[in-house]
Amino acid sequence: MKGGTGEHSYATNSHYQRNVFYEIQPVVIENVREMLVEVSFPGCIKVADLGCSSGQNTFLAMSEIINTIIQSYQQKEKLKMEVKGRCFVSGVPNSFYSRLFPSKSLHFVHSSFSIHWLSKIPDGLENNTRSIHIKDPSPPNVFKSYLNQFKNDFSLFLKMRSEEMVPNGHMVLTFVGRKVSDPLYQDCFQVWSLLSDCLLDLVSEGVVKESDIESFNMPFYNPNEEDVREVILKEGSFEISKIETFDHIVPYKIKCIKEEKEEDQSLQMEVGKRQASWARCITEPLLVAHFGDAIIEPVFNKYAHYMAKYLCVSNHRPNMTLIIVVSLTRT
Ligand SMILES: C[S@@+](CC[C@H](N)C(=O)[O-])C[C@H]1O[C@@H](n2cnc3c(N)ncnc32)[C@H](O)[C@@H]1O
Repeated sequence: MKGGTGEHSYATNSHYQRNVFYEIQPVVIENVREMLVEVSFPGCIKVADLGCSSGQNTFLAMSEIINTIIQSYQQKEKLKMEVKGRCFVSGVPNSFYSRLFPSKSLHFVHSSFSIHWLSKIPDGLENNTRSIHIKDPSPPNVFKSYLNQFKNDFSLFLKMRSEEMVPNGHMVLTFVGRKVSDPLYQDCFQVWSLLSDCLLDLVSEGVVKESDIESFNMPFYNPNEEDVREVILKEGSFEISKIETFDHIVPYKIKCIKEEKEEDQSLQMEVGKRQASWARCITEPLLVAHFGDAIIEPVFNKYAHYMAKYLCVSNHRPNMTLIIVVSLTRT
């Protein structure tokens, strides 16, 4: 994610993720309450938000969790003193695909918009030369490589957390998924398809080297519900309390623009630009590391145009991505 608070930073462009948190907040609150009962209201509660990035979102989630804990203890009349002064906060800079916390220490784990990021670019994508992700007509091995990487990573994530969490600890994970199992069905990976098209344009304009796009792939995978369920059951450390999906949260009011102003191209361009800022804040550091910073402006100008065009033609197509929220209990 792009740090800081500038125009293109994650902090400035992550309203969508924040709105999703508002939507799924009741799930988090319910899990915190259930966890407290199941772990019998101990003297000290340890909570982690994994993949917090910079900006307000992590504070929003954490303050909601802390407030729920405080209210729950107050309702139990166990709390006789001021609690806010007794919160200790720290940052842990390492990958969540490794151990981060002491054994059996965490009571509650939250993570949003993070575990669809893979630990690395999957192996075996050498023949994926005209795209930076899964895109029709990607060779069939491309999808398999992504799926395998997701399964290995998510399983490792669960294993690491299973060692760190106390029995009956709860975990709520929110991430981007897709509605269908067929990865080539309509626009399951639309952000990356558009970004591939922009980069290919820059190859034909001589701005990006062909070999650079051939060797670049996005370390991102949005699973379907079955992928997620399968990994959790196979890993075996967590009981699935609930898997919920939310598919009506569309960034930047595209729906209302489609309904009211289909013909208004300037409005579609405005939405295109905002979508480009959103894609830019989550990808810029990765793109700069591989292609250099000179491509950033041209890539995202193109992205805004492609997105505006896409909005014109995609009016009656359903959105193929959705938000998956998984509530888990450490057994
Ligand atoms: C889109 S941001 C989400 C920020 C915030 N949770 C929210 O909902 O707005 C994704 C975050 O996950 C982090 N991330 C991705 N892979 C990670 C890993 N393996 N270990 C730790 N953090 C990771 C990124 O660095 C980034 O900060």
